[in-house]
Amino acid sequence: QKSRSIAELLQRGSAVQNVRVDGWVRSVRKQKRIAFAAIGDGSSLDSVQVVLRPEDAADLSHGTAVSVDGEWIPSQGGKQAFELQAGEVSIKGDNDAENNPVQPKYQTAEFLRTIPHLRPRIPANALLLRLRSQVIATLTRFFQEAGFVQTHTPVITSSDCEGAGEVFTVSSNATKEAGQKSKPEGETQIEHFFRTPKYLTVSAQLHLEALAQAVNKVWTLSPTFRAEKGDTARHLSEFYMLEAEQCFTNDLNDVMSVVEEMLRAVAKDLQQSKVGHELLQSRTTNQSAEEDDQTAVTADELKWRWACMASRSWPRVTYSDAINELKGAGFDVDYDDGLETAHERWLAQHFGGGTPVFVTDYPAVQKPFYMMPSKNGTDTVACFDLLVPDLAELVGGSLREHRSEELLDAMKAKGVAGNNLEWYQDLRRYGSVPHGGFGLGFDRLLCYLSGTGNIRDVVAFPRCYESLPP
Ligand code: 4AD
Ligand code: MG
Repeated sequence: QKSRSIAELLQRGSAVQNVRVDGWVRSVRKQKRIAFAAIGDGSSLDSVQVVLRPEDAADLSHGTAVSVDGEWIPSQGGKQAFELQAGEVSIKGDNDAENNPVQPKYQTAEFLRTIPHLRPRIPANALLLRLRSQVIATLTRFFQEAGFVQTHTPVITSSDCEGAGEVFTVSSNATKEAGQKSKPEGETQIEHFFRTPKYLTVSAQLHLEALAQAVNKVWTLSPTFRAEKGDTARHLSEFYMLEAEQCFTNDLNDVMSVVEEMLRAVAKDLQQSKVGHELLQSRTTNQSAEEDDQTAVTADELKWRWACMASRSWPRVTYSDAINELKGAGFDVDYDDGLETAHERWLAQHFGGGTPVFVTDYPAVQKPFYMMPSKNGTDTVACFDLLVPDLAELVGGSLREHRSEELLDAMKAKGVAGNNLEWYQDLRRYGSVPHGGFGLGFDRLLCYLSGTGNIRDVVAFPRCYESLPP
């Protein structure tokens, strides 16, 4: 007996004999002579209707795992085209439906965040798992075709790439081996497993730069950690960052074009895919969810987002023009103070009208040590942030300072010289080459594409300041 996914069956549109469906009961209706069960398996937002004998339905409840052998035949009822006429029904394991925190009714996002280990079973959450998987597949294909090599970079590092002091320090519980000298009485120093302090990476960029000098173009999608004490809908302590780096470029436009083409590929795939279709479907049907989530977008708004992302040519404006535009619109901003989230959102809407917008050439004082000075600026660096409406910053990138002397000067100016970055200076000593790259907040991208208002809901097991459930 070949088991079929529910997505496959629903899409078929013709009868199948001797079919097996493996899934979980979403609802049961028991009548005197007949019973109906809706079964889902996470492959589709929809479930299939199973028609069974009342005695076979007796032990079924919401959440029960079952395998059903039967015939996929045209349905008598009007709700669905086909249904599964059950022959054999077998229950696969225990299910305490009554005490299950997940109930077949509307439950708030806030409550569901307290049970992340059970939350993915809800069809709309399972859909977000499939969205993540599909976007990774698109990105993998995009980079493969563009000649970028996928690489892995370390999670444990010696340096704070961004220099913002938001690192988590790694410590160890390893016990001393016999014969090793024990610490002198009263010494309070932390024992360092790796001899010197180590941190969880805040960005793969520096290591990625090293690898780019081997194969020219590289990318990675890897876990990133930030000890930011903030409770916002856009920040996690652990998140995935997509980073790419390419050599032989001294034009920031090249780097921005990679970002643009990459996101265009993602949006186009989504527009044409089943996952995209289901995201729209869930936006149209899930009324109560929208009422619960003030930031939720409608199906039409979501379609518009994707269309804008799939469109050609996003505006590229300089930081100084952006500041002037904000001032002109009555915002109380100052060139030296930097952009706040509200400014970023306004700029995205104002310049793009829906498309993402690149803001380039920020003042050097606002950015990390590794950025190349702008070509025709005095105090700015060749960098960009990609801003999208509603969300604000999605990507940050720059040309990297590839000249030894200038890099050392910048490191001294930012106070990071000597911070275990000698190896990074080596990259400028041997085979140095103009290069640039970017980092995209992958979970933020999923929020934007799915219209999810809070980043804690696109990540299965979110890690945030002052909270870490399972
Ligand atoms: O702008 P950021 O800090 O840039 C870098 O780390 C560069 N070294 C990347 C590079 O050029 N290779 O981070 C990049 C992106 C941000 O634009 C944002 O989308 C996301 O990472 N991000 C976060 N996402 C979720 N939670 C957080 N706490 C985040 N911090 C940054
Ligand atoms: Mg940034």
